[in-house]
Amino acid sequence: MIRKEYHVPPEEMAKQREIAGEVRQLPHRPKTYFIVTYGCQMNAHDSEKIAGLLEQMGMSEATSREESDLVLFNTCCIRDNAERKALGNVSWLKEIKKNRPEMIIGICGCMAQEPGMAEKLRKQYRFVDLIFGTSNLHRLPELLMNTLNSRDSLTAVDDRDWIAEGIPVRRLRHDAAYLTIMYGCDNYCSYCIVPFVRGRERSRNPEDILREAGELMESGVKEIMLLGQNVNSYGKGLSGGVSFPALLKSLDRMRIPRIRFMTSHPKDLSDELIEVMGAGSHILPQFHLPVQSGNDEILKRMNRHYTREQYLDRVRKLRESVPGIGLSTDLIVAFPGETEAQFEDTLSLVREVGYDSAFTFIYSPRTGTRAAEFPDQVSPEEAKDRIQRLIALQEELQQKTLSRFLGQEEEILVESLSRRDGQAVSGKGRHGVSVTVPGDAADAGQILSCRITGVKNNTLMGERTGGTR
Ligand code: SAH
Ligand code: SF4
Ligand code: F3S
Repeated sequence: MIRKEYHVPPEEMAKQREIAGEVRQLPHRPKTYFIVTYGCQMNAHDSEKIAGLLEQMGMSEATSREESDLVLFNTCCIRDNAERKALGNVSWLKEIKKNRPEMIIGICGCMAQEPGMAEKLRKQYRFVDLIFGTSNLHRLPELLMNTLNSRDSLTAVDDRDWIAEGIPVRRLRHDAAYLTIMYGCDNYCSYCIVPFVRGRERSRNPEDILREAGELMESGVKEIMLLGQNVNSYGKGLSGGVSFPALLKSLDRMRIPRIRFMTSHPKDLSDELIEVMGAGSHILPQFHLPVQSGNDEILKRMNRHYTREQYLDRVRKLRESVPGIGLSTDLIVAFPGETEAQFEDTLSLVREVGYDSAFTFIYSPRTGTRAAEFPDQVSPEEAKDRIQRLIALQEELQQKTLSRFLGQEEEILVESLSRRDGQAVSGKGRHGVSVTVPGDAADAGQILSCRITGVKNNTLMGERTGGTR
């Protein structure tokens, strides 16, 4: 098989760096930027790259979007409400721009990459200066330069699936970092728009990933989150027997204190990966394993390529290999044609697994996906009723699943102050559940040991047992 070369040539990246330097010299360039980010971790990390590029062009972050010279909306289109929220906010800025005509407004991210959407946006939102897709992020210096020179609205959306190495990143956190290992998705779940907006599945070279991990470790990062739409199939198309378990093993040997990853597809969760999870020293005992539905017929029509029984088998194996592992999932209710009995299969699966947390969604038809054409769309009232029942069940079960931590030792990476009085901090435990303990701002970014003393909704309460590290 001939491997398709996805990498942006180094000369192209050098050209973009050069243009960034030229923008920096322009007297009329924007001095401040503000990025509004929607959607998943991929988008959050893309925003860190966009910020890195903008700072390379001599800009600094504004304190609010109203005061910013440049505002970029990094959009998501996974469900209709994500799209509506983004567009509502773009429209709101139109009024601000009336008083500040020099303000530059841009739309990027998944929504801009939807087939036909860029043109539609350009017509309907004439005050928007720049629209670019996820595939054009590395060309931001050139796009911005063109916008500044012409002040005409500019649209740049390619369908080329790039991997761009060497984009500067301005990280939001210094203690925890995102590290992309693969881009795009080839799974075409029948409800999902991601393959259409993020392109074909493509994996980064392991050397590039390990180098970045090394740099992050040197800079003091304590936790790395490996990112991809389907990390379990990492390495497809690369030569040399590269696989996700092998990559994870190499990273585990680097002594980064905490390694997590998302998202995993159940069909690609191999026994080998489960073994690596069990044997690892730094791989956290948590697993996000979206199931979507507990009914075989629905799973089939979702094009998920596993049955309920196969999924439950993966869960059993994970629990054998990593006792106490924290499991979380994604669930969709009211998929076209879902009957009450089929929905109840989802409820019973949730009961059977006992997740620490679950993200629940009402099915939202996306233009261009197969499921949008399926008959028997479930009524909004029925959908609302189902999601409420599902949420109520998960909340009830969660109390019980989380009680297994009572009296246990846990280690948390402190993310934030959790109370206004500044006397408690919270962070994620090794199992992926949030824990609140007494502490203050000086604990931010530290790993600290605690004992779990209580469960409150979806978080755990703890008392400190040791120092920080
Ligand atoms: N690649 C990941 C996550 C993709 S998006 C995965 O395969 O699991 C995150 C979640 O959004 C999905 O797991 C799914 O539960 C939900 N989702 C995706 N498309 C949706 C749609 N059209 N309507 C409702 N929920 C959707
Ligand atoms: Fe969407 Fe399925 Fe790909 Fe996840 S695996 S991004 S749900 S198509
Ligand atoms: Fe949304 Fe794009 Fe992520 S559609 S969920 S931001 S990959």
